[in-house]
Amino acid sequence: MSLQGAAGAEELIFYVNGRKIIEKNADPEQMLLSYLRKRLHLTGTKYACGGGGCGACTVMISTYEPTSKKIRHYSANACLLPICSLYGAAVTTVEGIGSTKTRVHPVQERLAKCHGSQCGFCTPGMVMSIYTLLRNHPEPTSEQMIAALAGNLCRCTGYRPILDACKTFCKDSVCCQRKANGKCCLDQEDYLFDKEEKVSTRLFSTDEFQPLDPTQELIFPPELMRMAENPPRTLVFHGERMTWISPVSLDELLDLKAAHPNAPLVVGNTSVGPEMKFRGIFHPIVIAPARIPDLNVVKCMDDGLTLGAACSLSLVKDILTNAISEAPEEKTKVFCAVLQQLRTLGGEQIRNVASLGGNIISRKSTSDLNPILAASNCVLNLASRGGKRQIPLSDIFADGVDNNTITPEEILVSVHIPHSRKGEYVSAFRQAPRRENALPITNAGMRVLFEDSTDIIKDLSIFYGGAVLTTTCAKQTCWTLIGRHWNEQMLDEACKLVLKEIAVPGSSSGEKVDYKKTLIVSFFYRFFLEVLQSLKKMDPCHYLGIPMEYRSVLQDFQTKMPQSIQIYQDVKPSQSPQDPVGRPIMHQSGIKHATGEAVYIDDLPSVDGELFLAVVTSSRAHAKIVSIDTSEALKGPGVFDIVTAQDVPNTNEFYYSSDPEIIFARNKVICVGQIVCAVVADSDVHAKQAAAKVKIEYEVLEPVILTIEERFALGDRNTSTWRLRVCLLFQKERIKKWMCMCQHSIQQLFRTSRAVRLILSRGDDMLITGGRHPFIGKYKVGFMNDGRIRAVDAKYYINGGCTPDESVLVAEVSLLKMDNAYKIPNLRCWAYACKTNLPSNTAFRGFGFPQSALVTETWITGVADKTGLSPEKIREINMYKENEQTHFKQKLDPQNLIRCWNECMKKSAYHSRKTAVNEFNKQNYWKKKGIAIVPMKFPFGLGTRYLSQAAALVHIYTDGSVLLTHGGIEMGQGIHTKMIQVASRELNIPMSCIHFCETSTTTVPNACASAGSAGTDVNGMAVKDACQTLLKRLQPIINKNPKGTWNDWVKEAFEQSVSLSATGYFRGYNENMDWEKGEGQPFTYFLYGAACSEVEINCLTGDHKNLRTDIVMDIGCSINPAVDIGQIEGAFVQGIGLYTMEELKYSPEGVLYTRGPDQYKIPAVCDIPEQFSVSLLSSSQNPYAIYASKGIGEAGFFLGCSVFFALRDAITSVRNERGLKKTFALNSPLTAEQIRAGCADDFTEMMTNDESASSTPWAISV
Ligand SMILES: Cc1cc2nc3c(=O)[nH]c(=O)nc-3n(C[C@H](O)[C@H](O)[C@H](O)COP(=O)(O)OP(=O)(O)OC[C@H]3O[C@@H](n4cnc5c(N)ncnc54)[C@H](O)[C@@H]3O)c2cc1C
Ligand code: FES
Ligand code: FES
Repeated sequence: MSLQGAAGAEELIFYVNGRKIIEKNADPEQMLLSYLRKRLHLTGTKYACGGGGCGACTVMISTYEPTSKKIRHYSANACLLPICSLYGAAVTTVEGIGSTKTRVHPVQERLAKCHGSQCGFCTPGMVMSIYTLLRNHPEPTSEQMIAALAGNLCRCTGYRPILDACKTFCKDSVCCQRKANGKCCLDQEDYLFDKEEKVSTRLFSTDEFQPLDPTQELIFPPELMRMAENPPRTLVFHGERMTWISPVSLDELLDLKAAHPNAPLVVGNTSVGPEMKFRGIFHPIVIAPARIPDLNVVKCMDDGLTLGAACSLSLVKDILTNAISEAPEEKTKVFCAVLQQLRTLGGEQIRNVASLGGNIISRKSTSDLNPILAASNCVLNLASRGGKRQIPLSDIFADGVDNNTITPEEILVSVHIPHSRKGEYVSAFRQAPRRENALPITNAGMRVLFEDSTDIIKDLSIFYGGAVLTTTCAKQTCWTLIGRHWNEQMLDEACKLVLKEIAVPGSSSGEKVDYKKTLIVSFFYRFFLEVLQSLKKMDPCHYLGIPMEYRSVLQDFQTKMPQSIQIYQDVKPSQSPQDPVGRPIMHQSGIKHATGEAVYIDDLPSVDGELFLAVVTSSRAHAKIVSIDTSEALKGPGVFDIVTAQDVPNTNEFYYSSDPEIIFARNKVICVGQIVCAVVADSDVHAKQAAAKVKIEYEVLEPVILTIEERFALGDRNTSTWRLRVCLLFQKERIKKWMCMCQHSIQQLFRTSRAVRLILSRGDDMLITGGRHPFIGKYKVGFMNDGRIRAVDAKYYINGGCTPDESVLVAEVSLLKMDNAYKIPNLRCWAYACKTNLPSNTAFRGFGFPQSALVTETWITGVADKTGLSPEKIREINMYKENEQTHFKQKLDPQNLIRCWNECMKKSAYHSRKTAVNEFNKQNYWKKKGIAIVPMKFPFGLGTRYLSQAAALVHIYTDGSVLLTHGGIEMGQGIHTKMIQVASRELNIPMSCIHFCETSTTTVPNACASAGSAGTDVNGMAVKDACQTLLKRLQPIINKNPKGTWNDWVKEAFEQSVSLSATGYFRGYNENMDWEKGEGQPFTYFLYGAACSEVEINCLTGDHKNLRTDIVMDIGCSINPAVDIGQIEGAFVQGIGLYTMEELKYSPEGVLYTRGPDQYKIPAVCDIPEQFSVSLLSSSQNPYAIYASKGIGEAGFFLGCSVFFALRDAITSVRNERGLKKTFALNSPLTAEQIRAGCADDFTEMMTNDESASSTPWAISV
């Protein structure tokens, strides 16, 4: 069937939030997300990554199945859903379930009231994932709930409060009931609380919540049911460049495929979509076969299951779960192994749309299904105009990537998954950078069949994924081993054979080469153990099974609903109920975050004649720009103009420090990702298409310096004598830096007199903007045998990137804070900010401190290793103890540091748990636990007075309402909420009378950066000052009429012509530092804390699980415990990311590979500790800050390193048991790869690095 033969273009009919949409010009290239946001102006659904990786764009899709007469509701990522795939579907977005104008839905209400939003950007996606689950299961189990959130990322909250909201919907107990009295193990013993102080563990009250009433939900549109009952028709949609054809019968599909063999079949679009978007692959025709019944069959046969190729992975998961519960165990081993992979494949949003056939046919190396399906002898049912045929799935991997076993005209109709047989054992394995919602690094499917009642191998099948460009079979190995007994000799030979056969390409063409090889043999070893154990189960008399201490490795880590507790000091009973200070008040924007009504920059409605900007960035790290050819780009549709440095009026620069930052590159580029020019067009699509056509010719300049080592190797006036011993290497995190982006838009406004919108894609954002500085720390430590540290000489080298930005400040802070909690009598420290050809690095939460203090904690553990004392002993011995001075001679009283440490020790039951960890480690060989407790002193201050000045503006209106504004930026940390709390206390009026006006230079000029945890401190002082000024003016009136109301006084003041508007001002803290003398008072006060974390590692894979964390934090008197605990937990989880997961990878040419959530992994729900407790230190006062509080935005971040050191402890225990070298270096982030390498064994020994020293690696460590 030809395209011309297909029916004419259709109207696309679907529903959004109960409203019928008829789209006459449906463009197959348009995804639902942009349609919702731009066409329907439903901006609650957020764009964050655009590639299905973060869940910010989650919506609910509902479809009606006429044969079963069932409605299916499922969550999906709108960013990957082509609108054309929605014919006849109902879409529900966050706006459709509730709003402040109608009714706030219980999910929205509870998420907000449980404090589950900070910046609120992830919140609509979270809401929709939970809502969809509740539509299908109004009383879900906690397992279902936690699984529903696996595909949603949150960068702010640390997930705990989101899960608290979720638990309120779950039917099962949210408490572990591990204690003898049935209480939760996190319930603190009474003796741990200070009897004098009333503490609370309640951050919200469930009494306020509306019940969930499923009858109140939007119904499925009856019109869509009627449409679905009608005989289906072929649908064709023509776009500007692409045609979409959706046939309804297999015959029709085969005709189409014969006519358009290169047109892809699009079902879930989770493979084709990202390729088109991120790799620029274009298809003029796509065929959507999802409605064809043959591709949706589910047949239970005598010998297994036949599943249609268009079945979604979620459906496959449900079918397998069902089959496993019904069929005898012996028959379902393949099903169990496939199910094992499906549990962690993508998030639910991906599995709900991704098809079985799509996963198989795209033949990605990272497919989790192909290795296990191929090893299990699954059969593909193929069809084409030439006929039907069946082939074993393994055939399509027979000759590697270029295999053409399936012809372009052929389609996959269904897949047959066989039952397992007697004497057959099947397993699947995977290891990914994150346990859930992450593509695997390596995976495997393995199957063995024994001769009747023996352990002699009759048939063996081993497939690996992730190792080479597609799934690969260890064919030779399997043949060689047939006829062998399943014993140690076979294992030895198998490992050698398999390593030889699976030729993982050298590090020049891929990453983690040695790790992948180690996993290849480790997985086989794990299979070996599993089968041995199963043989024993089958015939205990003949087979011994595996030693007791090996057994735990057969269990993979599971994600459970975490248990948590938060403890804070309650307000005094005498405090007025109206006074909100010290109470857990909900984030002022919480409800609007949850309803999607909060407006972010890209949610602003477009203005008349708006244009769009796309940037063109440098592809070279250091080069002269020879020419910029814009001719092709200018011919593109809708292109308005192209702007280069020459077009910028006045100066093409802005200043942060004394060196200018260039906006558009002028004559040369100094990093990959530097903006060279920008295209202005009538749509973002046209602007991006044209940007791709700009041709820039470069002449490479020498040198290209990317790493700190290269900077030294090259040498310059200051660095030529440096020699380095690398002790620690940090990777940086991502931060958004918008300043220079805004400049572009402003310039363009001048030239075109029209508004220009620039929204960076996630990939461009990561490529262009700076991150946290990578550090190298080099140190010498002098210590006594009893653990006392007498002298330290430390040097920090900081990769600053291509411009100074804040690198010098970061270097200074790292020096001032490097002592962490320890008194070092003789201390010398240096920091060097190194200029390289990377995008300029910048200040990020806690800047300098998380890096230099990790180095400190590393030498502390090093001293423990050398002296044989425990790390906590070394920490205790060297901790600040009494009124002392820091290394820059600032006085400090460490009383609260010691209290935090002692309380954390007690609350975590550190000593008894350490004994339990040791006991566990004795009884388990391949799994080990580790525990660590780390103290923290976090100095607060910005170094000079002027940087901490702040102002506020408060108006009182004659109706008694108050409008407040200040110079602080709300980035989710709850500053506006706290400022309203301050004004409420000062003016003695309820919070409901106080309104907030968005921060703006028109109301409060010259605001300083909201940085260094100082926002609440300094703006709070300014708000207080303004309120006190107003109160002073009102006082005579109040005195005259003390029984009057607020409104009476305000009215009277107005009538007496008393000004009801006041500014407030705070001059800033008196801080200074004399760098010549190395002395000063750069900080105003200190926060203290301690965290104890326990982890478990899998020594065979390097995987780990965060079991428990207890944090005790001194933050003075909390102004808002819900917000403050949220800051501590969110920062802590970010810290876990920095220290254990988040890796930026650059090519040797300086090109960033990790440009989105696919490659750069931040913590997900599965990464937070299974038990998580945070206590605020009671009876702590702070005379320097508002209401005795302390600024808490950053401090919790560093405590994430307790997980790093717990992992180190677990690795140490492995190494001690195996008699390995006592000292060993671990870099941050301590990823699974490093953990596996640290647990050296026979398998890691097998890795020979056969690459020549000169070969260029795939990625470099910067
Ligand atoms: C965020 C994200 C996370 C992911 N995580 C994982 C993971 O952890 N593990 C994993 O294994 N995968 C993962 N994937 C990949 C995902 O499983 C696959 O992309 C998906 O299964 C492909 O199915 P689809 O229906 O979306 O394919 P589509 O994109 O619609 O099509 C894919 C390809 O298959 C072909 N095709 C589809 N059906 C047929 C058919 N019936 N006959 C012939 N050819 C056909 C098409 O022509 C096309 O070339 C992830 C994807 C994303 C976006
Ligand atoms: S924006 Fe769609 S998943 Fe991230
Ligand atoms: S990303 Fe979740 S609240 Fe900010």
